Amino acid sequence: MSIQQENISKLVERRAKARLGGGEKRIEAQHQKGKYTARERIAMLLDEGSFEEYDMFVQHRCTNFGMDKQHFDGDGVVTGCGTIGGRLVYVFAQDFTVTGGSLSKTMSEKICKVMDMAVRNGAPCIGLNDSGGARIQEGIDALAGYAEIFERNILASGVIPQISGIFGPCAGGAVYSPALTDFTLMVKNTSYMFLTGPAVVKSVIGEEVTQEELGGASVHATKSGVAHFAADSEEEGIATIKALLSFLPQNNTEEAPRVPTNDPYNRVDDALNSIIPDNPNKPYDMYAVIGSIVDDGAFLEVHKGFAKNIIVGFAHMNGRSVGIVANQPSMLAGALDINASRKGARFVRFCDAFNIPIVTLVDVPGFLCGTHQEYGAIISNGAKLLYAYGEATVPKVTVTLRKSYGGAHIVMSCKQLRGDINYAWPSANIAVMGADGAVNVLYAKDMKAAETPDEAKAIFEAKKKEYEDLFSNPYQAAQKGYIDDVIEPRNTRFRVIRALEQLSAKKLDLPAKKHDNLPL
Ligand code: HXC
Repeated sequence: MSIQQENISKLVERRAKARLGGGEKRIEAQHQKGKYTARERIAMLLDEGSFEEYDMFVQHRCTNFGMDKQHFDGDGVVTGCGTIGGRLVYVFAQDFTVTGGSLSKTMSEKICKVMDMAVRNGAPCIGLNDSGGARIQEGIDALAGYAEIFERNILASGVIPQISGIFGPCAGGAVYSPALTDFTLMVKNTSYMFLTGPAVVKSVIGEEVTQEELGGASVHATKSGVAHFAADSEEEGIATIKALLSFLPQNNTEEAPRVPTNDPYNRVDDALNSIIPDNPNKPYDMYAVIGSIVDDGAFLEVHKGFAKNIIVGFAHMNGRSVGIVANQPSMLAGALDINASRKGARFVRFCDAFNIPIVTLVDVPGFLCGTHQEYGAIISNGAKLLYAYGEATVPKVTVTLRKSYGGAHIVMSCKQLRGDINYAWPSANIAVMGADGAVNVLYAKDMKAAETPDEAKAIFEAKKKEYEDLFSNPYQAAQKGYIDDVIEPRNTRFRVIRALEQLSAKKLDLPAKKHDNLPL
């Protein structure tokens, strides 16, 4: 064998060894837990043959606790770039088979390298997390490594889409990298995220709780809202990340790709003309409206299990990517509460940062009231959604279907928050509050002074009718130009698409500032 041939076979051998990470036994153990390895995940994620790996031979530099005798090429993370649907992405996947995927200083350097490349080259960065946290043997160096990643997450925020997949443990301060990214996806039963694990929780506050109860996918996708997606399996998780990317631009200077569609832009849906019940207190399903107006009824919902009184997610309309925000009358009557406001605000801000037009479907009776909401700062949290809409400069098309009352009317992308095109259905009801509440405030004294309950009831009914005649329609708002047009529900798809086409070259700036001071 020539020297060159020998060199080449050494390379091939070393690559093969590096690809085995922590070795076959640990790979087997990973599979036994129902989990894939970092390389298997990357293979599922990227277009076949597109993966370009970096730093395969990087090794840690730690000598404490016998680490000088333990070296693995690649050091517990697989990094590089590739394509998804032909579009460039950068990726890092922690390899649990190497010291439990724990983060060393060198691992952080590998991760930072691909994050920097992603920003420089204007492509999304996807992190697949599966790690025991800071590599204990490295002490402060591991913490410094985390901080370097966090700083990059912050600087890349609003510049490139950042997506975190949680495919195993993610504990301690490590949770803050996913929390700083745009979307976090967890896999049910095999992933968890918490600041402090069950053992520490028990010793500090005496609370007994399992890993799943404390920080499993079901908790974060429903109660805390930390996870935007909860997948049943790793395959589903990877497919969701790919689907999500198909709606997003590569970076904040680009538009999301337009996709061909066979769904006619002027398709009408007669069913929408009768979807609103005659009884204003009766709910209907907002998903039916969304499904009717978007291309092929396809909707990728974000935060599906969290704050279900507001629906947010991505769809295409005439091939154009849009963010949909819609009140859900069949959950808490569609009222805005703390979680709905946070959920909506985060989504609106994402769309605005990445040039995705926002279509808002309004049926909101107001903000949820009571001590629970007030003590939890519904004021500041509601202000987040208000702020997000008011600040957004992307095209904003709003359709009011039914109720739009009070502060919630303003918050849900009203005209004066620089809503571009605001439509209303004939069933719209845009007012300071609902008729019952209004009459009870305005005519309380008259009803109290009535001599009989029947007389009080008659006053109530008469005044309610007067109020409804005046306000329970969209025409007061339309007469003043606060609504641009009252449209037939069946034409909603066509009208929204035409508005979006019209707004496709919209330009609107914010005043110069260092940064805003969003109410946090
Ligand atoms: C070094 C680690 C490690 C860590 C796991 N390993 N976590 N090595 N540093 N943090 C190693 C194990 O020694 C083992 O090595 C291998 O990874 C697999 O771990 P197991 O324990 O055998 O796996 P499993 O039973 O599945 O348990 C996984 C685990 C557990 C729950 C994650 O390993 C664990 O509790 N690890 C410690 C978690 C932790 O406290 N991390 C620090 C958090 S604080 P061998 O050689 O046997 O295969 C933190 C601060 C971040 O992260 C701050 C950022 C700002």
